[in-house]
Amino acid sequence: MIDREILLEHMKTSPYKPMKGKIIEAVMLTEKEKFFRIELEGKTNLAHEPGQFVMVSIFGFGEAPISICSSPTDKGFFDLTVRNVGTLTNALHQLGQGDTVGIRGPFGTGFPLDNMFGYDLVIVAGGLGIVPLRSLIRYIMHNRNDFGEVQILLGCRTPKELLFKEETHDWQRRAEIKFNCTVDKADPEWTGNVGLITTLIPGVDINPTRTYGVVVGPPIMYKFVITKLIEKNIPDHQIIVSLERRMKCGLGKCGHCQIEGMYVCQSGPVFNYSQLKNFKGECHEKAI
Ligand SMILES: Cc1cc2nc3c(=O)[nH]c(=O)nc-3n(C[C@H](O)[C@H](O)[C@H](O)COP(=O)(O)OP(=O)(O)OC[C@H]3O[C@@H](n4cnc5c(N)ncnc54)[C@H](O)[C@@H]3O)c2cc1C
Ligand code: FES
Repeated sequence: MIDREILLEHMKTSPYKPMKGKIIEAVMLTEKEKFFRIELEGKTNLAHEPGQFVMVSIFGFGEAPISICSSPTDKGFFDLTVRNVGTLTNALHQLGQGDTVGIRGPFGTGFPLDNMFGYDLVIVAGGLGIVPLRSLIRYIMHNRNDFGEVQILLGCRTPKELLFKEETHDWQRRAEIKFNCTVDKADPEWTGNVGLITTLIPGVDINPTRTYGVVVGPPIMYKFVITKLIEKNIPDHQIIVSLERRMKCGLGKCGHCQIEGMYVCQSGPVFNYSQLKNFKGECHEKAI
């Protein structure tokens, strides 16, 4: 028989047991995406790396992996942005300030900051891909002298789908980074670029050996962006991509996220292109 005391002790420290996260801010960013600022009960910080994710749960509705979109340098809270696509994400969208969610993590590998220090960065975000990249961009802004030139390229389908509008306007105004944005289809108010995100890359000035390209977006987008970055002669190991897979445990136990024996929840979601090109296409099926 299992000793009840041992079981209770195990429950306290179990990685399957969610922490309580209190929503301190909740704002709709677009028709489909909602932003949440969360405070962890009894713990000041999540202690994550940009690129990592948490498992978010609501009792009775399930659990889902969601990228952390604040920087570890943002103290006392962390941010999530959730697209309403199904059972759990719809339930999350019904919550507001003062409500509580379950949080496990942080999980996965982050962007390879240690390797990226001192390098120029070309950060390419497609659609919801800006969510994990916002964590990296905020980290860079807070540690600007640790990096060389920083260029951010952001693309989405229509101006209505642009996330973090005020923040991206601020990036546009800053002298210490270059920011460029494009939409596939403009509306009458749009005065910026129109066209696929790949059309912005030829115009980017890149010194390939001292540049990291970081790409997050849907598979169709990151495949073409990677091709363009390779054309710019950026070495494969300096092209960084974040993959999205179905996940359940986040702990390398259930096998849901597996690609050819490798667990994306632990070895990823961030990979470099040298690693990615060894997978036989299966990993491209679904990305953020
Ligand atoms: C590492 C990682 C980071 C992610 N970060 C974010 C984020 O920051 N913001 C965000 O909005 N979403 C993110 N996602 C996707 C998010 O996890 C799914 O949208 C979520 O699990 C859907 O749960 P649901 O119960 O609402 O949908 P369900 O009711 O389970 O399904 C609704 C639809 O979503 C699809 N779906 C279900 N689970 C997943 C999944 N894990 N991945 C992709 N599609 C799925 C189903 O095929 C179906 O079409 C991330 C996923 C991963 C793996
Ligand atoms: S999500 Fe369970 S093994 Fe990766």
